[in-house]
Amino acid sequence: MSQTYIKNIGTLVTMVPEDGDLLGREGEAVVVIDDGVISYAGAAAGAPAIEDDATVVDAEHNAVMPGFVDCHTHAVFAGDRANEFNLRSKGASYAQIMAAGGGIRSTMKAVREASEEELQQQLEEHLDFMLAHGTTTVEVKSGYGLTTPDEMKCLQAIRHANANRQQDLVATFLGAHVVPWEFDNDPQGYIDHIRAEMLPAVVENNLAEACDIFIETGVFSVEQGRALLQDAREAGLRLHIHAEQLSRLGGAALGAELGVKSVSHLEFSDEADAKALADAGVMVEVLSSAQTFLGMQERVPGRQLVDAGCDFAVATDFNPGSAYVPHLPLAASLSVTMGGLTGEEALQGMTWGGAKVLDRNDRGQLVPGKRGDVVVLDTPNPFHLLYHWGVNHVRQVVSQGVVVVGG
Ligand code: NIG
Ligand code: FE
Repeated sequence: MSQTYIKNIGTLVTMVPEDGDLLGREGEAVVVIDDGVISYAGAAAGAPAIEDDATVVDAEHNAVMPGFVDCHTHAVFAGDRANEFNLRSKGASYAQIMAAGGGIRSTMKAVREASEEELQQQLEEHLDFMLAHGTTTVEVKSGYGLTTPDEMKCLQAIRHANANRQQDLVATFLGAHVVPWEFDNDPQGYIDHIRAEMLPAVVENNLAEACDIFIETGVFSVEQGRALLQDAREAGLRLHIHAEQLSRLGGAALGAELGVKSVSHLEFSDEADAKALADAGVMVEVLSSAQTFLGMQERVPGRQLVDAGCDFAVATDFNPGSAYVPHLPLAASLSVTMGGLTGEEALQGMTWGGAKVLDRNDRGQLVPGKRGDVVVLDTPNPFHLLYHWGVNHVRQVVSQGVVVVGG
């Protein structure tokens, strides 16, 4: 049996709410991981003894948290869109750039020209950054290939990267990201094509466990979303929706109607949407990084959504167009300053909240029986993660009991 023993923890953040503390904090603690799974997390007094051949990590009285879970990224792509960032600085909007053939379609062109190996390599460079900043589980969406072979190429790149890494990747099929050139002015034709060919190919090859769609004015309608998501559900995939990001079209209400797992963005949602999502038990993903990156006045109404009773997660939305931000603690900080979440909620959203969105209830909290995915900070106060922008407060990362950063 292999044991990893994390000693001298100044603040253990279990993420299991206790005595009114959402973070379930405990001082002077220890975490023990046996064969990749937590066997003890709690007070140093009463902890099991260190085995002779254990790997010992000395937290030096700093804070220790569950490995971070980024439940919403578009991390598999080629190239970048730095020039679009600059165009926006001169007044062009994200929607205008997209309507003029730039935006998601310009990344689509780069992805179609790239090989699977090139996509995997670029993906892994971004994943390295994420791991060094504490993210041990990353959801990655396809959505820049938009033909059957190109979507499969992206999903294969995710699969091969996953096999290569001590970081867990979760693949989502987002063929309905934008309407590609081949179906110009024919979103219905493209949705029919996804339903007839792409989705079955993805399912047959077991390349994704979830399906997402961008429901937006000028992209896909509620009716198109309903048809595709019903197919995806029948095929056994988990459902997610990008809704009300640039306009209020009804994606949130559709999410409530179908009882999807989660709905993301919601900048243009209202109180009725919040209530419908809460009543239906649909989780919301607070992505304040995208809204801030695009300089939008409309904020993700995180506070309103949580107060309405929605369960929630916080994620980066990392992508080359609307959120070139692979830094989950920064995204979580923005969910506080722009989205109205409390610090405790933000930290919970980037760990246990993300785990729930991905149906990974085996992580995101530090309790016996869960995966040994653990982050050691360089400070006893976990709020430094949110407070100190642009700094990496992650000193060590343990993935399934293996020290993968700062060993
Ligand atoms: O979540 N809104 C749709 N998809 C992404 C943006 C993708 C891109 O601009 O490349 C998002 O914001
Ligand atoms: Fe997104």
